[in-house]
Parts: sequence; structure tokens; C-alpha cells
Amino acid sequence: MAISCDITNPNLAPEGLRRIEWAANDMPVLKLVSDRFKKEKPLAGIRMGCCLHVTAETANLMRTLKAAGADVMLCASNPLSTQDDVTASLVKDFEIPVFAIKGENVETFYKHLNTVVDHRPNITMDDGADLVTLLHTKRKTEAKNIQASMEETTTGVIRLRAMDRDGALMFPVIAVNDADTKHLFDNRYGTGQSTLDGIIRATDVLLAGKHVVVAGYGWCGRGVADRARGMGALVTVTEINSLKALEAAMDGFRVCPMNEAAAYGDIFVTVTGNKHVIRKEHFERMKDGAMVCNSGHFDVEIDIPALTTLTGGKKEIRRNHVEEFRLPSGHRIFLLAQGRLVNLSAAEGHPASVMDMSFATQALATEWAVKNAATLKPHVYDVATEIEDWVANLKLQSMKINIDTLTPEQKKYLTSYQEGT
Ligand code: ADE
Repeated sequence: MAISCDITNPNLAPEGLRRIEWAANDMPVLKLVSDRFKKEKPLAGIRMGCCLHVTAETANLMRTLKAAGADVMLCASNPLSTQDDVTASLVKDFEIPVFAIKGENVETFYKHLNTVVDHRPNITMDDGADLVTLLHTKRKTEAKNIQASMEETTTGVIRLRAMDRDGALMFPVIAVNDADTKHLFDNRYGTGQSTLDGIIRATDVLLAGKHVVVAGYGWCGRGVADRARGMGALVTVTEINSLKALEAAMDGFRVCPMNEAAAYGDIFVTVTGNKHVIRKEHFERMKDGAMVCNSGHFDVEIDIPALTTLTGGKKEIRRNHVEEFRLPSGHRIFLLAQGRLVNLSAAEGHPASVMDMSFATQALATEWAVKNAATLKPHVYDVATEIEDWVANLKLQSMKINIDTLTPEQKKYLTSYQEGT
């Protein structure tokens, strides 16, 4: 039977398969989950709708969910992050229906989301809450079928927690992003490395000696700032939160408002989750040749409409993923990846080794949600501690790292209050 799909080119499947298998080499924890799921089939009879970045790593998660017995359908969580060879292989080699085309316009993006909702899923998996939002707006009728949803990213969880506070959630959601096994590693080391990878692949820039300005010092911002420093860049952090600004300062970064940094930055990276963090007054202060990019979930962090207005709508493509905007002053600003996630648009997203932890957590959270569906309420739930402990232990084992265990005396000490000075 032909697998339903909307993808760029099925002939790309051999390259996609090679990349999926290459990624699998670095996903040992997900493999252990997958092996157990194959035997136990914990998702048998479950229809799943997934809206994720369609990468080689995501392909391995889809294989795991299918091995667990789920009837899976996948669409993209971002119009530019899809890897077309992976979509081809998922359809051809793994018989998983995929609706995702790299560079799809917003209309096609939503058409694909609607196709996934047409699949009438009982469980959804989101990266940025677009599927949940659709199920709470235009497709409310289908929301009644949903037992639970998993959310992969900070931006999505913020929105879902706001819905929860307002009593607007129609079904339970698991905040996978908030698990330590996810954000402490994926957001920090994954975003840190893959963002620089995207900037370098797009521009071939030398980072050593450059002024890199990182907007936002959450886990992603920390990762980007730290890795940029490691490459020899002079890093400035901008923040609106005093505690995070203080942390950035004591971590050794220069901290100042964007208006100041705008005047000397060579490369700007937004990772705030907020909109218009770089806007008209900042563009107007920038040096000739400044590069501007975003690694936050949505393409709203850079005020591209303002940049477009400043340049009278004129822009030129300089390289793949690099657009030049020339200001009336003659200064050129280079926008990378159309202001969309530079790490997934111009590079391949986070490396498999870190997605291993995120997606093992996703898979186990899904199993947990299905098991506990009868008792869950429309509310945002954290990932169970046992899942996090299991993932962390197995990741350590896969890295051949042993750690100490508490002696009986130490255990007793930690639970008693008699001993003191
Ligand atoms: N988000 C960031 N990197 C990713 C990857 N490699 N696969 C899926 N989602 C991601």
C-alpha cells in the first residue's frame, strides 16, 4: 500500500537512510527504549500526530514510536528545518507518513498540520505547540480525541503553562522540555554547538576575535555564549532579567543593553523566545557587515518587517541562507536563514548524541502518558523523576562513565539531623 505523504523527492531516500543510521549510532539510550518497545508494544492501538523538526534524529524517534505499536504521522514544526532526504527515507524505508517540505510556505505548513489532525490522533507530540494551538482553535472537535500531548521546547511550554493558568487547556500536556535530561543538555550544549555550526556553514565566518552578541541568557543563550567564547569570540550578553544578567556577568561575559551592543557587534544571535529583540533602532546603529540571526523557536525575535522597511523592501541573496539588506547609510546587514532557527535551517540541528537524551525522554514520557491517561487532567505535567533518572544513568553508561554510590553511613547522614558541629 502506498504511504500517504507530501515530500520533496522520494529519490533522496538512500541518502536519508544513511544519515538516519549514522544518527542512530549516537543514540544508544533511544535504542534501548526502542528494543524494549519492540517487545512490549506499549503504544499498540495509539494513533500519534507528531509536529517536530524533521531531522535524522527525529526519524529515529519516529522508528521508536512505530516499534512501540503506534500508528504515527509526522509534519514539520518549522518551514525551514525539514531534511528532505530524511522525509524520503521515512516514507520509503520505514513506511511512516510524512507531510513536510523544506522551504514550504505558511499555507502548506498549516495544510500539513491539518493533515496530521485529520489522522485523528489520540496522542500528539509538538515542538512549539503549533499542533496544540490548532487543536484549541480551528480544530477543537478533534481535541476531544486527545489523551495527552508532549511538548519539546521552551517556547511551547511557556504558552501551554499560560493556557493551563487560564483554564484553557483541553487535554493533559507533558512538559518534556522542562525535564533536566532535556533542557540542561539539548538547550545548552545542543543549541550552543548547532547555532555556531549554522552561522559558520551559512557564512564561513571566523569567530575568533569577533564581537558576538547573544540576546537572552536562558539555557540556549548560555550554550551559545559559552561555545562562541570557546571559539575565541568576544561575547556580550543582553538580558532583561537581572538575575540572569548577573549570572552572565559573573560567568565573565560583557553585559549591556542591545542599544549599546548594536554599535559594536559583528554577529548577533537571538535566543530569547520574545519578539522584536533586535529592531529598527538597533539596525540603525549597526556596523557595516553586521550579521544577524536567530536560534529561538519562532522567527519573530528579529524585526524583519522593520529591516525591510528601512531598506525600502530591497534585499539581495549573497549566499545560501544569507540575505543582504543595505540601509540608507550604506551599511549592509546580513540576515541569516530568514530569521528562522539558524541551527536547523543552515545546519542539521543538534547532534544526535544530545537528541538521544531528549528523544529517549520523549518516548518514555509518551509511554507514561498512555499508561496514566485515565487519571490525567487537562494540565501541564512534569516528566516523572524515574524517567529522568533512567535516561541520565543510561547516558552515563553509554559514555562509559562510572560514578560513586552513597555508603550506608552517608545515606544515614543525609536523612538525619542529629550530627552537627
Ligand atoms: N531541535 C534541535 N535540533 C534538533 C534535531 N537534530 N532534531 C530534532 N529537533 C531538533
